[in-house]
Amino acid sequence: MKFSTKAIHAGNEPNLKEGGSGDVVIPIHLSTTFARKKVSRPTGGYEYSRSGNPTRNALEENLAALEGGKAAFAFSSGLAAIANILLLLKSGDHLISIDDVYGGTRRLFKQVFETFDLKFSFVNFVTGKDLQRHIQKNTKLIWIESPTNPLMKIVDIASACGMAKSKKILTVVDNTFASPYFQKPLALGADIVVHSMTKYIGGHSDAVGGCIVLKDKDLAVRIKFLQNAVGAILSPFDSFQTLSSSLYNLILASS
Ligand SMILES: Cc1ncc(COP(=O)(O)O)c(C=O)c1O
Repeated sequence: MKFSTKAIHAGNEPNLKEGGSGDVVIPIHLSTTFARKKVSRPTGGYEYSRSGNPTRNALEENLAALEGGKAAFAFSSGLAAIANILLLLKSGDHLISIDDVYGGTRRLFKQVFETFDLKFSFVNFVTGKDLQRHIQKNTKLIWIESPTNPLMKIVDIASACGMAKSKKILTVVDNTFASPYFQKPLALGADIVVHSMTKYIGGHSDAVGGCIVLKDKDLAVRIKFLQNAVGAILSPFDSFQTLSSSLYNLILASS
């Protein structure tokens, strides 16, 4: 399936079920709670909107398809998505980040997570070889932003991720500035992709949002758990807005 077809159809199938309305655009599901026909089983798979919402899930399915991932999770901002990734770590773990990482990400690392005893190194790297001498026994995550904001530094994602994989270290790529149209980090070996959807995926400056996209099932289960446990979800309205914008932008980009 070509990119523009995925952008239009993934997660955005018309509701053609018996008795369904046939909407060709996913509706904004504002209900916070979903009724059950049986106490033991939620009707249609939804219980409570923080845990799962049909509009948010449509956007998440679309994002997973566009990035070539198995699962995606939408958050209330890019920084909320980034914070949830950091919650995979535990006290004493070490993270290596590209030195020119977005200022808000650096602030979150230094002024929030460092107080919980996570350790950070900010390194100017392009390849896996550049990174190698900075790896410590407790290094658990490599944080790549490519291109970076603001200096537009570029990382050789395949090389950095290949080296990290050989040492069983997880890799994250902040793909905000490239968008999945121009760059697919999961196909280059990254474990996790993160976006500030406030930028090019949203594109119209009318919704703040973030997302995490992954291909590994166990990691997806953990991020889904954190999305629900921490609760920094994208609202149904912003999910709708972002899904509509993302289609528009990405189709334009691919035509
Ligand atoms: C590369 C990058 N990542 C993350 C963020 C944070 O995203 P948000 O503003 O949606 O929280 C930004 C915001 O400018 C950014 O440029």
